[in-house]
Amino acid sequence: TGKRAFIAGVADDNGYGWAIAKSLAAAGAEILLGTWVPALNIFETSLRRGKFDESRLLPDGSLMEIAKVYALDAVFDSPEDVPEDIKTNKRYAGSSNWTVKEVAECVKEDFGSIDILVHSLANGPEVTKPLLETSRKGYLAAISASSYSYVSLLKHFLPIINPGGSSISLTYIASERIIPGYGGGMSSAKAALESDTRVLAFEAGRKHKVRVNTVSAGPLRSRAAKAIGFIDMMIDYSMANAPLQKELSAEEVGNTAAFLASPLASAITGAVIYVDNGLNAMGVGI
Ligand code: NAI
Repeated sequence: TGKRAFIAGVADDNGYGWAIAKSLAAAGAEILLGTWVPALNIFETSLRRGKFDESRLLPDGSLMEIAKVYALDAVFDSPEDVPEDIKTNKRYAGSSNWTVKEVAECVKEDFGSIDILVHSLANGPEVTKPLLETSRKGYLAAISASSYSYVSLLKHFLPIINPGGSSISLTYIASERIIPGYGGGMSSAKAALESDTRVLAFEAGRKHKVRVNTVSAGPLRSRAAKAIGFIDMMIDYSMANAPLQKELSAEEVGNTAAFLASPLASAITGAVIYVDNGLNAMGVGI
């Protein structure tokens, strides 16, 4: 309660970012969102028109309030990094200050500080290709959008995260076990994200008393997951093989994020926390 959260990677009400925002709002946090520039227009229009009102409903009967939505492209750190074709792209030209550094500056100007930073975004242009068929460009793009984006976000927001604050990202078991179909270097990107979680926990902990954890989530039918193409199979597989044979709800991940951001988790940092109905613990499907 009384905390402020910035959640990067919300562009509709289907993904983990939205569910995390809701759980944090239900716990009394003020919600700021970072929305991918090309998706911003439709997201804000839908919000304004009440399209998400049903899914804004919190347990106490009130609707989640979003204090501000920021345009963000986490692939670019500062304006100097933005190539000409993006600058002049009409989906980008309508927004401004959307590089990571600028967003952090704007949040500081608008609100002064935050307590909770959430990274709920990933992108791998060649995700449907096996690793052996992935190009260098596709692999590096996956790492840039899905791993370095977190290093950059934390780096630029850390000075405005209050001591005792918490940072969370989302990862996937494909980082450590073979999940055929999660290609394009996305498995590599998640491995980097998990390793970075440990190193960043050390650096942010020592420097700013900020905790850094990642949630390894089970399969959810989000927009991003549908683009990979195997999400229904993964949900069925989990239902059939996980210790808990139920569909995973985004809310369960949201609630874990709220716990990790709270003082209840004050000694947890550098951790990969599984929220997957226990599937990670299985050796073989049975
Ligand atoms: P989602 O589609 O709700 O979220 C992904 C978001 O990333 C989208 O809002 C998209 O606009 C945004 N995004 C993409 N590139 C961006 C960029 N350059 N800058 C800013 N935003 C950008 O999908 P989902 O699945 O909820 O993804 C959230 C996180 O959860 C991701 O890290 C994903 O890898 C992770 N995850 C998802 C699982 C699933 O089954 N859905 C399982 C385990 C982890």
